[in-house]
Amino acid sequence: MIAIPSVAATAASFEQHYGYPPHGVWSAPGRVNLIGEHTDYNQGLVFPFAIERRTWCAVGHREDRILRAASGAMPDAAEVSLDELGPEQLQGWSAYVFGVVWALGQHGVDLSGRPGVDLELASDVPLGAGLSSSAAIECAVALALNDEWELGLTREQLVSVCQLAENKAVGAPTGNMDQSASLLGQADHGVLLDVRAGSSELVPLHFADEDLALLVMDTRVSHAHADGGYGARRASCERGAAQMGVTSLRELGPDDLPRIAATLDEETFRRVRHIVTENQRVADTVATLRASGPRAIGDLLAASHASMRDDFEISVPELDLAVATAVANGAIGARMTGGGFGGAAIALVPHNLVDAIGDAVHEAFADRHFTQPNIFTVVPSQGARRDA
Ligand code: GLA
Repeated sequence: MIAIPSVAATAASFEQHYGYPPHGVWSAPGRVNLIGEHTDYNQGLVFPFAIERRTWCAVGHREDRILRAASGAMPDAAEVSLDELGPEQLQGWSAYVFGVVWALGQHGVDLSGRPGVDLELASDVPLGAGLSSSAAIECAVALALNDEWELGLTREQLVSVCQLAENKAVGAPTGNMDQSASLLGQADHGVLLDVRAGSSELVPLHFADEDLALLVMDTRVSHAHADGGYGARRASCERGAAQMGVTSLRELGPDDLPRIAATLDEETFRRVRHIVTENQRVADTVATLRASGPRAIGDLLAASHASMRDDFEISVPELDLAVATAVANGAIGARMTGGGFGGAAIALVPHNLVDAIGDAVHEAFADRHFTQPNIFTVVPSQGARRDA
């Protein structure tokens, strides 16, 4: 029987794998992005929140220089020496774990005199659903080692460490949204990130107060950011910025769109228009939430989805169907979330419609002969923490 992941279950698997109890257990959550897609690596605005699905990391001390990482599902622990840590040595799932240790070294942490650790990982963040299962692993490991090794790094510094691990050890050219949500999130709040300013602000979401639930509709169309599509969009954005003579697309606003249209080829223009308008939608969403509450943000979610579908072209028919069906059946708003090309869509829905909307989406998928989606609610939750 596979134990349901929890603090106690992770500690128990640690003991089973290593033969002694862990010194402590930490956890970090996955995330949902409410709005602001592909804006993070364009120095823009992003508004994700941490969810209750988490990855736990139990840690024990060693006296030699070996790092070991195990997970309930795997029979054997992965192993690497602190003396041989480099992105090229790291492969498979343990790259997420050991990559963080390597990235700590790159960030200036002196790893030379440090003893190794044993790590046990367990997660209930669904894999490949666009909910940042990878960032949850990285952030749990980073916070655990920051505490255990008494490194004194701030959470913002840990965000950079985890992003470096993702970019260089895992090889996915992502921005810092996922790691920021996982390390900085708080219950009932979104994390408004201004990447150019390097700042973040917690904004109350009030979903529960307004009797709203956040539905995740995982299309089960798999995606991976180390694959081509994500990198190709990033390259288009960089090309657009270079051709417009700016250091990043953040330097451009809606008023610049006619000039951008006159300068760029049609496709690059649409990529850039998505980023420029999406930054504005993030600002508008936060302002609308503050002024009128979450029931008023539906149109912004819809506009964001349309922009990703038509301008940025990162949606797939399953995501479009989930979004359209949720809205047709009473959702306040819906959009795909995450990097795109598969993964999940979200819908903000009145509590009493959760089941009806879920059923309608299941039926619509059956009608189109799509693989059945995995539909569940998530709650804006606390970010990474020590649990035991
Ligand atoms: C993935 C990346 C993030 C971000 C989103 C798109 O989740 O990891 O950095 O770029 O895609 O918004």
